[in-house]
Amino acid sequence: MHHLPWPYPRILAHRGGGTLAPENTLAAIDVGRAYGYRGVEFDAMLSADAVPVLIHDPTLERTTGARGAVSDCSAAELTALDAGAWHSPAFAGVRLPSFEAAVRHCRALGLWINIEIKPAPGHETQTGTVVAQHTARLYADCIVAGGAQAAHAAPAVPLFSSFQPQALAAARVAAPDVPRGLLLDRIPDDWRRLLQDLDAVALHTNHRHLTAERARRVKEAGYWLFCYTVNSPERAAEITDWGVDAFCTDRIDLIAPDGAPRQRA
Ligand code: G3P
Ligand code: MG
Repeated sequence: MHHLPWPYPRILAHRGGGTLAPENTLAAIDVGRAYGYRGVEFDAMLSADAVPVLIHDPTLERTTGARGAVSDCSAAELTALDAGAWHSPAFAGVRLPSFEAAVRHCRALGLWINIEIKPAPGHETQTGTVVAQHTARLYADCIVAGGAQAAHAAPAVPLFSSFQPQALAAARVAAPDVPRGLLLDRIPDDWRRLLQDLDAVALHTNHRHLTAERARRVKEAGYWLFCYTVNSPERAAEITDWGVDAFCTDRIDLIAPDGAPRQRA
């Protein structure tokens, strides 16, 4: 593969601000930045009218209090929802953001993004296509031919990830020079073929199922290795010793952006 060093921030604030703010909102991104983070992960899904918005679940109940499926609501309906009150009163009134608003917000703050393409069931290809089209437009000034493997690759360009290979395959067609990472909860025996089929540069996996041996094999094959969601400094140090390039965390209050443990209050 490429054997280049990971060019992006090494620790990302999961869903914007981890557990400290309502996930997948601009307010969460602000909190991540306020804690010193230079990169975030967030989840992008399509509205009924094919506009990407930030939300994790395919249903509205958990994070908005509204009822029904994301894929049944227009972008206008979704972006009017309160996506903050469920978290805590301090965030009441925080709106569910469009993908475009979130990207523009991150770019204004100088934050790099791991964009998780999170299709509602049955919308895998369309979500990959549309999120990639929007990304290509929003980063047209810095995307370079060859993506992450180009010698002059711009580390500002996001990295796509998804649990859905179909979504990444569609993103590859729509934005071939935006790099891709395949999300795998457990690393299966045929992981190399899965990455090769998508021309992916990174394997993203659940740290709970990772072993030192698996990590070594992925790194020896020249892929970047990313873990979710690492919430203790001790575990962060352990997987870093194994060669893991980067990870996201919910505990931006316990893990500093450089991986050092923070003093508990
Ligand atoms: O990208 C890592 C992580 O976000 C994947 O799981 O369910 O939190 O989106 P989830
Ligand atoms: Mg995610």
